[in-house]
Amino acid sequence: MDVQLVPFFIVCLLSTVYSEGSVEFCYNSPGCNATTWPTIAPLYCNGTRQSPINIVTADVKADNNLTAFSFTGFNDSSTFINIQNTGKSVKIHLDDQKMSVSGGGLQNKYKSKEFHIHWGNGSSFSGSEHTVDGKQYAMEMHIVNLRADVSVAAANDSTAYAVLGFFIEATNDSGKPESWKNLTSFLSNIPKKGDLLDIMNQLTVDSLLEGVDRTKYYRYLGSLTTPACNEIVVWTVFKDPVKVSKDLIDLFSNTVHIDTTADPFITNNYRILQALNGRVVTSQPTSSANTTSSASTLHHTLSISTALLYCVFFWCL
Ligand SMILES: *[C@@H]1O[C@H](CO)[C@@H](O)[C@H](O)[C@H]1NC(C)=O
Ligand SMILES: *[C@@H]1O[C@H](CO)[C@@H](O)[C@H](O)[C@H]1NC(C)=O
Ligand SMILES: *[C@@H]1O[C@H](CO)[C@@H](O)[C@H](O)[C@H]1NC(C)=O
Ligand SMILES: *[C@@H]1O[C@H](CO)[C@@H](O)[C@H](O)[C@H]1NC(C)=O
Ligand SMILES: *[C@@H]1O[C@H](CO)[C@@H](O)[C@H](O)[C@H]1NC(C)=O
Ligand SMILES: *[C@@H]1O[C@H](CO)[C@@H](O)[C@H](O)[C@H]1NC(C)=O
Ligand SMILES: *[C@@H]1O[C@H](CO)[C@@H](O)[C@H](O)[C@H]1NC(C)=O
Ligand SMILES: *[C@@H]1O[C@H](CO)[C@@H](O)[C@H](O)[C@H]1NC(C)=O
Ligand SMILES: *[C@@H]1O[C@H](CO)[C@@H](O)[C@H](O)[C@H]1NC(C)=O
Ligand SMILES: [Zn+2]
Repeated sequence: MDVQLVPFFIVCLLSTVYSEGSVEFCYNSPGCNATTWPTIAPLYCNGTRQSPINIVTADVKADNNLTAFSFTGFNDSSTFINIQNTGKSVKIHLDDQKMSVSGGGLQNKYKSKEFHIHWGNGSSFSGSEHTVDGKQYAMEMHIVNLRADVSVAAANDSTAYAVLGFFIEATNDSGKPESWKNLTSFLSNIPKKGDLLDIMNQLTVDSLLEGVDRTKYYRYLGSLTTPACNEIVVWTVFKDPVKVSKDLIDLFSNTVHIDTTADPFITNNYRILQALNGRVVTSQPTSSANTTSSASTLHHTLSISTALLYCVFFWCL
């Protein structure tokens, strides 16, 4: 995922290493790629609770608390404000006054801010961030939701964001489904970094998630997947992929550029996998899930993470 830096962190950076309010990063240049993030954003990118991860289904623990979500405004096309080329991805800004998510084992209501997509290089080179038993999907869509009781996420607030991750799987159809055909039709209007197009009243988030059983998902605690990699995300990764035809997937890697139209296309904008470091991934109880209680392991992991966050906070000051 890719969100704005929080003010606290900017202050922190100013007082330590950086002279600017945001961390410049890249995905693919030699000498500037995800392996260098711990150096450019050492506070968090080198942490122990990072994302994305490979989900090992045999190690997933059952949790009865992971009930159905309640989605508000996902059927409302007026929630789409605009679509933007950020130079790193394509981001759709949402109306957080109309769109929110609750339930699903979340302790609070979260307001929907935006969604964006991670991809590889055409449908033949996969680019999802999370993987399941080593399987990488063609793309991954992240719906970013901020806890309703805060207006900006604090750098150390471990549940500030609830991000909903959806895998995109390639099919051999063409131009399917119609919702993704509509969404990708806007890409040719935003070829350059910073380009923005209003797209209100043309499609809904529900229509983009066609075919996904939204009661079946994985849950774990992790981080932003772009610098500064703050460990402030309650992750939900849905099991079912959205099925999108190859021709539409290809448009992401051959239409939008990292800067001007003379620069390369945005490709392979996904972060490398991060270590689990003892974290537990949970899911709804099923016949195949491991039903051993994971509460004590989870508590242990959380205590270590909290201690680390305090250390980092004081070191920063
Ligand atoms: C990423 O950067 C590192 C460090 O400069 C370099 O060794 C590596 O080859 C780069 N990888 C890619 C895929 O460019
Ligand atoms: C990241 O953590 C590893 C292991 O703790 C350490 O060896 C490495 O020096 C750290 N890198 C940075 C840039 O802090
Ligand atoms: C389920 O929720 C209850 C109440 O919030 C909590 O005490 C319990 O630890 C949770 N179970 C798991 C497996 O997280
Ligand atoms: C969205 O669904 C809700 C609840 O089912 C319904 O009340 C509302 O009218 C729907 N909105 C639109 C724009 O269809
Ligand atoms: C992406 O694929 C195209 C051909 O489909 C190729 O020309 C291009 O070099 C690839 N880009 C990267 C970064 O691998
Ligand atoms: C996060 O930092 C704020 C100060 O910016 C502090 O008041 C708060 O207690 C910290 N929270 C945690 C969970 O460390
Ligand atoms: C799509 O086509 C390729 C090659 O034509 C084939 O190998 C693959 O099995 C097809 N996939 C599906 C889901 O039909
Ligand atoms: C696609 O766009 C057309 C034209 O704006 C609209 O009529 C149709 O409802 C849209 N379909 C979906 C699934 O969003
Ligand atoms: C379930 O989890 C326990 C404890 O982590 C482990 O010892 C056991 O092998 C697992 N069982 C299965 C079927 O995965
Ligand atoms: Zn993302």
